[in-house]
Amino acid sequence: MRARALCLVLLAAFFPTSAPTDSIGLGASIAGNQTLVSPGGVFQLGFFSPDGGAGRRYLGIWYYGIREARPTVVWVANRQSPLVGSPGVLRLSADGRLVVLDSQNGTAVWSSAAPTRNVTAGSAARLRDDGNFVLSSDRSGSEQSVAWQSYDYPTDTLLPGMKLGVDLRAGITRNITSWSSPADPSPGAYTFRLVLGGLPQFFLLRGAAKIYTSGPWNGEVLTGVPYLQSSDFTFRVVSGPDETYYSYSVGASSLLSRLVVDGAAGQVQRFVWVNGGWSSFWYYPTDPCDNYAQCGAFGYCDTAQQTTQCSCLPGFRPRSPQQWNLRDASGGCVRSTSLSCGNGSSSSDDGFWVVNRMKLPEATNATVHAGMTLEQCRQECLGNCSCRAYAAANVSGGVSRGCVIWAVDLLDMRQYATVVEDVYIRLARSEIDALNAAAAAANGGGRHSKRVVTAVVATVAGVLLLLAVGCFVWRKRRKRQGETDSSSAPAGGEDVLPFRARKHPALEEDWKCAKKDVDLPLFDLEVILAATDSFALHNKIGEGGFGPVYMGKLEDGQEVAVKRLSRRSMQGAVEFKNEVKLIAKLQHRNLVRLLGCCIDEDERMLLYEYMHNQSLDTFIFGQLNLAETRGIQREKFPQTMNLTYPLLLCAVQMKGSGGC
Ligand SMILES: *[C@@H]1O[C@H](CO)[C@@H](O)[C@H](O)[C@H]1NC(C)=O
Ligand SMILES: *[C@@H]1O[C@H](CO)[C@@H](O)[C@H](O)[C@H]1NC(C)=O
Ligand SMILES: *[C@@H]1O[C@H](CO)[C@@H](O)[C@H](O)[C@H]1NC(C)=O
Ligand SMILES: *[C@@H]1O[C@H](CO)[C@@H](O)[C@H](O)[C@H]1NC(C)=O
Ligand SMILES: *[C@@H]1O[C@H](CO)[C@@H](O)[C@H](O)[C@H]1NC(C)=O
Ligand SMILES: *[C@@H]1O[C@H](CO)[C@@H](O)[C@H](O)[C@H]1NC(C)=O
Ligand SMILES: *[C@@H]1O[C@H](CO)[C@@H](O)[C@H](O)[C@H]1NC(C)=O
Ligand SMILES: *[C@@H]1O[C@H](CO)[C@@H](O)[C@H](O)[C@H]1NC(C)=O
Repeated sequence: MRARALCLVLLAAFFPTSAPTDSIGLGASIAGNQTLVSPGGVFQLGFFSPDGGAGRRYLGIWYYGIREARPTVVWVANRQSPLVGSPGVLRLSADGRLVVLDSQNGTAVWSSAAPTRNVTAGSAARLRDDGNFVLSSDRSGSEQSVAWQSYDYPTDTLLPGMKLGVDLRAGITRNITSWSSPADPSPGAYTFRLVLGGLPQFFLLRGAAKIYTSGPWNGEVLTGVPYLQSSDFTFRVVSGPDETYYSYSVGASSLLSRLVVDGAAGQVQRFVWVNGGWSSFWYYPTDPCDNYAQCGAFGYCDTAQQTTQCSCLPGFRPRSPQQWNLRDASGGCVRSTSLSCGNGSSSSDDGFWVVNRMKLPEATNATVHAGMTLEQCRQECLGNCSCRAYAAANVSGGVSRGCVIWAVDLLDMRQYATVVEDVYIRLARSEIDALNAAAAAANGGGRHSKRVVTAVVATVAGVLLLLAVGCFVWRKRRKRQGETDSSSAPAGGEDVLPFRARKHPALEEDWKCAKKDVDLPLFDLEVILAATDSFALHNKIGEGGFGPVYMGKLEDGQEVAVKRLSRRSMQGAVEFKNEVKLIAKLQHRNLVRLLGCCIDEDERMLLYEYMHNQSLDTFIFGQLNLAETRGIQREKFPQTMNLTYPLLLCAVQMKGSGGC
């Protein structure tokens, strides 16, 4: 063995390879400075020294197509067992294992796992243009012939197409772990991995400590990264009985992209190669609210709240007010009123309060009921004293299926400016009543009531309301042609519901503006009733705090989504105006194909074009790049929304416009 290795090294020294090759066959080797290069010249495989000198050597894969002072290594075979002082040899042994040998003493320092298929004479290990080093059991090189591949054993980098997760059938767990240091690829402190539990969820760990989590996967988004999709970067989470994983792809295959666990920064980072350098596209954790369980149990985090980013969930108060006031929220919150747990009469039973736009609480210990409706889930939760909250388990396609129940402390929640998901918090009846009363007072009372939070959604909601109100006024005007304006002017001045605020010149200007931009037909209630079978239950496709949404079909066959606004969705005039101004900036995005509205007595309804299998998030944020989205979140929307403010846009069907 030793002689053979030596011989190979000598051969390599005397006959340096001319044309690069992309594979080695059974029994063949590469040694020393020899490398494999993928067919398109994207990646290169060979031995390298991370410290630059010839000290410790590793077998690795790096980008070949880009020229850098130091290669960007994406995979390391022998990360825990370097070759010391002598060149290495990589051999594909007769039994189909890849082996790294020390060329001087012939010792194997690393060997790949046994191939999952029997090797044949045609077997070869080939470096592909996607950075995967693949051992095929035959000459075909097909997916079915894969007997071993480097993609199954990630180091610290996830390339497009690689999986991060668990394959129960193959018994493989794929995680990525940081290098110890830039000069040492041995496993460092940080690992990014899937944790299987109630809902799939990805964690950045430092040792065993949770640093950051993506939030549970709800069939549509990772609820802690609602802004992740962009047009040139798509990811998916596949969750099935056999395997659960995250993987991503980039729009243009020529775009180089990698996701790395950076041990120095303690972050998961995605880089793209632009203008001759690696640019950090995003990284997590990004802000203090991304830190795991930043606000403790039953607390939630919101970066829009300037002074303290932590709040207690409705019906909860800080466990230690003193500590909380010193901005240490890690102690979390406790219930203001304990649950009755079915002890009292039915009138004193517990109820639920919905909180919107939430990163779901950590769900690794939650229980998923795949077959249950939200209503059944509610009953289930009420019937079990340890139940704290529930939410839809799978909201893909704008329809919710199944539910998830938490019988543990609610940890790591955060509120976003965009639609993520509603969580139903179990509270004592008296708390629910108090919250309802407070909400009613806030809606009626106007400006003095609100603790404001940033809200893109509220902004969009504001415009929708504006349109509804605009319609309302418009129709009232038509109705009352000839009547004097003063007769319809309400008492109550500035702080009443927005449609009464017509006396404010500034607001009126905004209305005109909106009306000019949007041609908004009025529909009669009868038309809507006919389209939705009189709001038949089977046509209901969703519900948020703002009221229910129904699917329907107009006489001409046009499919519509009809949103009935509940009276609670009214806002103070001043905030309303602010939102209108802000939405004007967003208008070119043309997110919504609003067909019209309907006003009848107290009813206010909005009609949208119905989009099949489309989600709001995808369309609001799918078209924006991340930087823009974040910009919006942070800068353009200073303030607007109360926590209890109904989530108007939930379940609205959105129209994706091609370009922005
Ligand atoms: C390998 O590369 C190094 C640095 O480029 C060089 O010093 C050395 O002579 C090369 N060895 C062989 C065997 O080609
Ligand atoms: C052979 O070299 C490797 C590293 O290159 C070293 O770990 C191992 O101890 C050496 N074995 C012997 C027998 O010298
Ligand atoms: C490999 O071949 C042996 C007999 O030649 C057979 O028993 C075994 O099932 C084969 N393994 C695989 C993975 O095909
Ligand atoms: C990452 O995966 C490897 C290989 O399966 C495993 O040995 C290691 O324990 C995992 N690390 C963590 C933190 O889960
Ligand atoms: C409910 O009643 C049982 C027995 O009557 C009691 O042990 C339990 O503490 C009560 N639970 C609450 C939350 O009051
Ligand atoms: C989940 O349950 C496990 C096992 O009971 C426990 O060790 C862990 O602390 C729990 N995690 C959370 C976040 O509650
Ligand atoms: C209540 O929920 C917990 C946690 O999900 C579960 O272990 C327990 O069996 C449930 N109890 C009943 C009576 O269903
Ligand atoms: C979620 O719902 C979609 C649509 O029906 C389905 O395809 C998917 O398998 C579901 N996901 C899970 C994890 O049940």
